[in-house]
Amino acid sequence: MATKRKGGKKSQVVVGKVLVSKKTAATKVEPAKGKLGVMVVGLGAVATTMIAGVEAIRRGLAKPVGSLTQMGTIRLGKRTDNKSPFIKDFVPLADLKDIVFTGWDIFEDNVYEAAAHAAVLKPEMLKKLKPYLQKIKPMPAVFDQYYVKRLEGKHVKKGKNKRDLAEQLRADIRAFKKKVDRVVMIWAASTEIFLEPKPVHRTIEAFEKGLEKNDRAIAPSQIYAYAALKEGVPFANGAPNLTVDLPVMIELSKQNAAPICGKDFKTGQTFMKTVLAPAFKARMIGVSGWFSTNILGNRDGEVLDEPQSFKTKEESKLGSLEYIFQPEIYPDLYKDIYHKIRINYYPPRGDEKEAWDNIDIFGWLGYPMQLKVNFLCRDSILAAPIALDLVLFLDLAKRAPELRSIGIQEWLSFYLKSPQSAPGLYPEHDLFIQSMKLKNTLRHIMGADLVTHLGLDYYD
Ligand SMILES: NC(=O)c1ccc[n+]([C@@H]2O[C@H](COP(=O)([O-])OP(=O)(O)OC[C@H]3O[C@@H](n4cnc5c(N)ncnc54)[C@H](O)[C@@H]3O)[C@@H](O)[C@H]2O)c1
Repeated sequence: MATKRKGGKKSQVVVGKVLVSKKTAATKVEPAKGKLGVMVVGLGAVATTMIAGVEAIRRGLAKPVGSLTQMGTIRLGKRTDNKSPFIKDFVPLADLKDIVFTGWDIFEDNVYEAAAHAAVLKPEMLKKLKPYLQKIKPMPAVFDQYYVKRLEGKHVKKGKNKRDLAEQLRADIRAFKKKVDRVVMIWAASTEIFLEPKPVHRTIEAFEKGLEKNDRAIAPSQIYAYAALKEGVPFANGAPNLTVDLPVMIELSKQNAAPICGKDFKTGQTFMKTVLAPAFKARMIGVSGWFSTNILGNRDGEVLDEPQSFKTKEESKLGSLEYIFQPEIYPDLYKDIYHKIRINYYPPRGDEKEAWDNIDIFGWLGYPMQLKVNFLCRDSILAAPIALDLVLFLDLAKRAPELRSIGIQEWLSFYLKSPQSAPGLYPEHDLFIQSMKLKNTLRHIMGADLVTHLGLDYYD
């Protein structure tokens, strides 16, 4: 709600905690009133780290490090205006205290047990959160081992066909909607086998027929996405599966004003790639090879040890360099890059993944050089704030008239390894362009001026 402020410029009013132009105050982004229900598919390492983390932050036990929605600021106006409010004070985001979690998994473990199994957070921390976490129990999942070979779970729905399973998920969503004011769904479940778009994915009609006939091209992740979108619920895909990047899902998303984004959380190695590659390109440094390898020992690593799931991940990780370097425009610098990615399952490491990159670069007159990156990271510690931000921003998109019916939310590419973009449009992978795009989208929907970084007016 806008209020006039004494001493401010006549054209300014206070929105939330920020003094903004009247134009900004007049935007029609609906406020985040009431409870936000977050439905998480897959209560594994990433999901439980997000849920436990949100509860720890709500109780003041820790800070939301890594979350742009919670810690980030946004510059408004000129540099000389000195106005950089917190993002959460500028756009109407759901407050963490208003989030209610639920989810599905193929194992019956409650979130406390699942978090203990994932062993990301320290037992002392989990113990403090136990009464809350153990109350969140997964609903039976839609699952088929054909799509995730390494997993076998008993906590699954039974139905006469895939359409019936989709209807059961829709019933779960409708039941949850009665307890909260708004709902968002996020896929944080295992990586499925590599699938390609088929005729069944072209239209809603074809897809619904495919559901009836149990078409093999329809994976469980697509059934969840279909159920969410039919219920008008925004959907984020944190895994590299072909889930919402299908014509049927884009159509459903637009039709039901349920924003979508995907795919694959951009956490460790690819995050670094999309920082370093733009730097080489900006300075016209050539690259002849980029070898990336990883060891990890969590359940995700076990699933990715299976060649068909690895192929899905590999495809998702490979794209970034090709798009950033544009070898067709810069053949002298990038046409012969040898890009190789390896993921090795190594149980002793658990969630504490280690990634190595060897980058062969060349400079002036073609003289070769090398850069080595050794990232000792924690997979789910990096992914959890991304999952949280995606949920909060998709909920915002649903309340923003300019975003809710456009389908793909490309401005959320910032968080994704293999970002979805409009058909025929190449995706933007450069982290800095993605960050600018995200912040300008927020300025735009709030009616604030975009920041172009031109800055000539400081020298008038
Ligand atoms: N951790 C990261 O840094 C990171 C980065 C990018 C992408 N991802 C992706 O996020 C996903 C989750 O990663 P994680 O480390 O939490 O994995 P995880 O194995 O710990 O958790 C996945 C959970 O999904 C459940 N599951 C599998 N199929 C399901 C289905 N059909 N319905 C409901 N539940 C199902 C599994 O039982 C498991 O509990 C993976 O696909 C992973 O590739 C993770």
